This record gives sequence, structure tokens and C-alpha cells, in this order.
Amino acid sequence: MTKVTLNVNGETRTASVPPEMTLLRLLREEFGLTGAKLGCDVGDCGACTVIVDGKTVNSCLMLAPQADGRDVLTVEGLATMERLHPIQKAFEEKGSLQCGFCGPGVIMSAKALLDENPDPSVLEIRDALAGNLCRCTGYSKMIEAIQDVARGDNRQPVGESA
Ligand code: FES
Ligand code: FES
Repeated sequence: MTKVTLNVNGETRTASVPPEMTLLRLLREEFGLTGAKLGCDVGDCGACTVIVDGKTVNSCLMLAPQADGRDVLTVEGLATMERLHPIQKAFEEKGSLQCGFCGPGVIMSAKALLDENPDPSVLEIRDALAGNLCRCTGYSKMIEAIQDVARGDNRQPVGESA
């Protein structure tokens, strides 16, 4: 077993894990954070996308010990029960998702994009979502939602006055 200590959504978390355990399994099975989804388990679908030290990562491809000492943000770190993150709010308002399985990964990719590039072009948005497969939608409503956030239409978290 290997001891790993990482910062997850602003909290220090520690676990003893087999060295071959992935970050995705650590998050889901040890920490109970089931927002990141297990889709393909081989890096093809993006359902497991989280942000590690500011960059998107397919958490099914990163070993838990590789995340030791790093900052991990999952979709659970974006919102509270009372307040959606602006990206989530925009997705809700646009009806950007259908089954929703891809949603946590797509939203984390959108967050990483907007953190780095607050005014992305459509091509840049498409590029940022290229690793996130969605079987239900045509991506158009996701792109519109991300543009809304970039324009500031959804910058204010729900429940906060301007
Ligand atoms: Fe990780 Fe598909 S589950 S990329
Ligand atoms: Fe179903 Fe994207 S909404 S996979």
C-alpha cells in the first residue's frame, strides 16, 4: 500500500492505496466523490475529467500515487447544494445536457478553459471539449452555454446579489 495525501476541492485528504489504483478510483471509492465518471477507463471518453494543478486530466489514466501532493478539483468542488457554479447554471439554462453522463467531465474541461482563456472562440471551445465524448447532444448547446459564461451572462453565482 502507498500513502497518498492530496488537496481535493480545498480539503487535505489522505488514503493508503494499492500503487496501481487510479486517481479516478481513489476519488470515487475512497473519497466518495462520484462526480467524475468511469466511462471507457482507457482515456478515450473524458467522462473522468478532473483538474489537477490547473490542468485537465483523465483521472482514469493517472495513478493515485501520481496525484500525491497535488491540488485536485472535481465537479463536487464547483457548487454547493444551494448555489450552482456559473458554468453549471448556464448548462442548465441552455439545456446543454441530456443523459448527463458526460456532464461532469465537460464542465471541468469548460472550467479549465475559461480559467485560462476567459474569452474563447468557438474553435477554442471545440478544441477544449475535443476529449469529452457526448453520445446524446450535438455539443451546440454546450458551446452556447460556455459562450454565455464568457460573455458574463452567468458569471454571478446563483443566489448571490450583484
Ligand atoms: Fe477516463 Fe474514459 S473513463 S477517459
Ligand atoms: Fe448523454 Fe452527453 S448528455 S453523453
